[in-house]
Amino acid sequence: MRIVLLGPPGAGKGTQAAKIIEEYSVPHISTGDIFRKNLKEGTPLGIKAKGYMDQGLLVPDELVVDLVKDRLLEEDCKDGFMLDGFPRTVLQAESLEEELTRLGQTLNAVININVDAELLFKRLTGRRICKSCGATYHVYFNPTKSEGICDKCGGELYQRDDDQEATVKKRLEVYQEQTQPLIDYYKNKGTLVDIDGVGEIDDVFSQISASLQERA
Ligand code: AP5
Ligand code: ZN
Repeated sequence: MRIVLLGPPGAGKGTQAAKIIEEYSVPHISTGDIFRKNLKEGTPLGIKAKGYMDQGLLVPDELVVDLVKDRLLEEDCKDGFMLDGFPRTVLQAESLEEELTRLGQTLNAVININVDAELLFKRLTGRRICKSCGATYHVYFNPTKSEGICDKCGGELYQRDDDQEATVKKRLEVYQEQTQPLIDYYKNKGTLVDIDGVGEIDDVFSQISASLQERA
C-alpha cells in the first residue's frame, strides 16, 4: 500500500498515521519528524531546517525532495509506505510522481483530512508530545490520565516550538498558499480521498480504513 497523508497542520495526520501503520505495517515517513530528529542530533540539515520551521515556513524544496527520494529507495519501502507531510508543494508532488514512475510504482490513495481553520488553531496550540516515545496528546481533546505524563511510557510531555500561536497562524497561511493547490492536483489524478477530520479519533480512522480497503 502506497499512501500520502495530506491535510493542513493539526488535521490529525500524525495521529492517524500511528493507527494506519498498526493496520498496514508500512513505514511511516514524516518529513517533519525527520527534520526534528536531525535537529535533536544537531546535524547541518536539522540546523538549516530549524530556521524555517521556527518561522512557520516550509523548508526549501531542494532540502526535502532528495531526502524523500533516498528514503523511498530503502528496502523497507519496496512494498509500500506512508508519506506524512510530503508532498507539500506542487514541485514536491511532481518530483514524487517522477520518482514513482521511474520505480514503476503508483500511489493507492492520497488521504486528505479536512478540518476548519478555527479548530486547527485550537488543536495545534493545545497539542502536547511525549519526550520519550513521541506519542501525541491534546490538553482538552486527548488528555493524558495524569497531567503532563505520557499514558504509554510515563515520559514527560512538551509543546513543540512551532505550536506557539504566532507560528501556528503563519503555518496555516503557508498551507493555504503552498499546499492547498495539491488538492486539485490529486483530484485531477483520481487519487484523492476526502476525509472529514472533525470527530472522534477512532471515527476518523474508520473512514480512512474503509477507503484504504477499497483501494488496496
Ligand atoms: P510537520 O511536522 O509535518 O507538521 P504539520 O504538517 O504542520 O502537521 P502537524 O504535525 O502539526 O499536525 P498533524 O496533522 O500531524 O496533527 P496531529 O495528529 O499532531 O511539519 C513541521 C514543519 O516542518 C513545517 O512547518 C515545515 O517547516 C517543515 N516541513 C515538514 N515537511 C515539509 C515538506 N514536505 N516541505 C517543506 N517543509 C516541510 O494532531 C494535532 C492535535 O490535534 C494533537 O494534539 C492531537 O491529539 C489532536 N487531534 C488529532 N485528531 C483529533 C481528533 N479527531 N479530535 C480531537 N483532537 C484531535
Ligand atoms: Zn511516551
